[in-house]
Amino acid sequence: MEICKLEHIHKDYRMGEVVTPLKDITLTVHEGDFIAVEGPSGIGKSTLLYVMGTLLKADEGSYVYGGQDVAQWNDAEKSAFRAKKIGFLFQDSTMIQALTLRENLIFTQRVGARKDLKKVDELLYQFGLEDRADFFPHQLSGGQRRRAMAARALIHEPELILADEPTNDLDEHWSREIIRILKEQTKKGTAVVMVTHNSRWAGQATRRLRLEDGILTDIAE
Ligand SMILES: Nc1ncnc2c1ncn2[C@@H]1O[C@H](COP(=O)(O)OP(=O)(O)OP(=O)(O)O)[C@@H](O)[C@H]1O
Ligand SMILES: [Mg+2]
Repeated sequence: MEICKLEHIHKDYRMGEVVTPLKDITLTVHEGDFIAVEGPSGIGKSTLLYVMGTLLKADEGSYVYGGQDVAQWNDAEKSAFRAKKIGFLFQDSTMIQALTLRENLIFTQRVGARKDLKKVDELLYQFGLEDRADFFPHQLSGGQRRRAMAARALIHEPELILADEPTNDLDEHWSREIIRILKEQTKKGTAVVMVTHNSRWAGQATRRLRLEDGILTDIAE
């Protein structure tokens, strides 16, 4: 089953000079896909995830999600869509600083109109954070924060997980574990699009793509 489809997506940033991270992006994501996106720093990988997550609007091209044209959605519709369907694991830390880790997870569930405290405990345990549940984000180490963000990306059982360098700050054990957990999600039909600079982790994906010169190409290996 198709989840979403990008066709001829074009995105410029205009801040003095024009930067075109996405020139002509075509990509279809299906249930259970585990897609890795590689490419040099500053090329537009995060931009691609922002467009897919409806945080950024493309200038040209079509983005169809669940059979609907995303360009027709208003802000409230996009917001409801993100809250329910998308699991974001951003490149930079984006926890709510005034909430504890547990509260951050519960908050994300609530925004997605869910409540499942058992799931909160399960994910805290799975990511080795059960003894850090009542810590505030600034009281977590870099790697713990990354794991907390991963837990948050899964807490509302999204349909599409957008993971931007999910293994940043993590040691070997937790890098492997995060990739394993993401892979496990895809077995349940969730799709994962993961940006990574690490070819070893990209090698775990079912499809490897490279972003360069504003277009995506398959890496055959
Ligand atoms: N809001 C913005 N306004 C203007 N330019 C931007 C903005 N966001 C990103 N850019 C520029 O667009 C280009 C692509 O940025 P992006 O963050 O998508 O790259 P990336 O592939 O994720 O890089 P990295 O691997 O370093 O995270 C960069 O040159 C960046 O400076
Ligand atoms: Mg990036």
